[in-house]
Amino acid sequence: MDEVAAKYNFAEMTGSRGITQLRWATFGEPSQVNSQPHLDSDGDLVGAHNGNVVNNVELRQQFMAEGLTVRSMNDGESCVHAVERYVDKGYDFIDAIRLAYGDLEGDYAFVIGRVDDDRLYAFKKGSGLVVGLGEGFTCVSSDLPSILPLTRNIVRMNDGEIVTFWADHVELRSVKDGSVLDREPETVTETMDAVQKGGYPHFMLKEIHEQSQVARELLHMLDGMSEASPRADSRGVQTVLEKMRTARQLYFIGCGTSYHACLAGAVYFAQIAGRSVIPVLAPQFVPQYAPAVNHEDVGLFVSQSGETKDVLNALQIAEERGMTCFGLANVIGSTLTKATACTLPLCCGYEISVPATKTFTNQVVTFLYLAYRLAGRDTKELAVIPDLMDKTLEMVAPQVEAITPSVNEWDDLYCLGYGATYAMALEGALKLKEITYAHCEGMLSTEFKHGPLSAVTKGFPILFAAGPTDVGLIVSGINEVTCRGARAIAIGEEDARLRANATDLIVLPKSTPEIASLLGVLPLQLLSYHMSVLRGFDPDFPRNLSKTLTVD
Ligand code: G6P
Repeated sequence: MDEVAAKYNFAEMTGSRGITQLRWATFGEPSQVNSQPHLDSDGDLVGAHNGNVVNNVELRQQFMAEGLTVRSMNDGESCVHAVERYVDKGYDFIDAIRLAYGDLEGDYAFVIGRVDDDRLYAFKKGSGLVVGLGEGFTCVSSDLPSILPLTRNIVRMNDGEIVTFWADHVELRSVKDGSVLDREPETVTETMDAVQKGGYPHFMLKEIHEQSQVARELLHMLDGMSEASPRADSRGVQTVLEKMRTARQLYFIGCGTSYHACLAGAVYFAQIAGRSVIPVLAPQFVPQYAPAVNHEDVGLFVSQSGETKDVLNALQIAEERGMTCFGLANVIGSTLTKATACTLPLCCGYEISVPATKTFTNQVVTFLYLAYRLAGRDTKELAVIPDLMDKTLEMVAPQVEAITPSVNEWDDLYCLGYGATYAMALEGALKLKEITYAHCEGMLSTEFKHGPLSAVTKGFPILFAAGPTDVGLIVSGINEVTCRGARAIAIGEEDARLRANATDLIVLPKSTPEIASLLGVLPLQLLSYHMSVLRGFDPDFPRNLSKTLTVD
């Protein structure tokens, strides 16, 4: 963003309105012509969107056939022409938008303005859109945290609404009949700390260090102990547990990092509560399980943002099949929280950095908590987690920093685990891929010998996340690779067998087997962070990725 601002002299731009968009390419390669905002045929209208207009290709053909000038492949341009075609026919601007709304299929938030007018107009379908009311200015954004440094007074937009905004006031209308809607602005009371780096060089490092605090808040909230907690209540926990107890089959459904939490959750549910759970990637839930589910089944849909389209698609199909659907989300007010019978909050505050850290560990803590409750175990045993997280970070920080330069020399790595640490290995590998751009494959440790072993050369780094009860098995895996020249970096509690067999041992504090697996992800987060920084990348905003993926 800074590079673009410098290249195009943003600082010297004059005027009282502006539209900027950070593009995650769906339609059209990343290029200047596909960048937003886009103009209409004669340059009178300008607009940009966030999201995915699924009938973009058909619309572009229609626009060209109608004689409009289509310059790019991008669906944001289609949103502009969708309004232009009705403005050209003489419709009033609001009516043109209402008609365009019916033509644009998909999920998106869109803002448009006329060159000769001091107003801007915005509307959305499926995606998020928030209006910010500041002193002497008004703004809209698809991302609430982006406007919080500017103003705390906001209006949340719903589907089927159009906002017209001037610097000093806004007007909300219904798409259906164009009537004016009345909506009181709300004040966001959450602290600004979450959207500031608080002395850390990156949000990611700050959020890694916030993990103990948000875990503490989450456990308090889940136990209903913290009446002061402003973020949520614990009534939902009871509802979720009751349904889970009697369910025919449980499904944990998510994407990316959230899916890895589901994998850990399924292991905990089996080991702690004796309940079998199917953890599944949301898009695969649709063909593989949805045809077989019914009202006797319970699905927990897990998503930091609550806006991931893949997850919302799976949710919609599951609801159509009558399944009981619950959510586990960080962003309260997100589409997932509105679309489920009950959503448990992750209580993490805003997570700004694209690679998820604190929301992942709180997802895992929630699963641990639910498993304890189902098993009738005392959840107070989990109260040690926050302090153990702090202790882990303190202990592993120098160890991780010491190995970072040598691991950083490689562009191929493996990260292996078993049982609950399998989920941590996948998550560690994802973190490394996301922010170092190195290839890192996460695998079940026992699978490595079934093929990937052929990749081993002298010094090839392989990370092993070792749970205390699985050390014997992990040591076998370590020896299989070290005898072929690999460097085995084990992550686990102090153990003579790990110490004797691994090339390096990153030592975690002593805890229980379940908690130890959770703690094992922290050094992997730190390693990814330090490697990313060493490579000169910004871990908070990795290339090509987006924090919230509202596209199929
Ligand atoms: C995107 C992000 C990932 C995230 C995934 C699921 O791909 O880049 O970091 O894990 O979406 O996000 P969710 O908000 O559903 O947890």
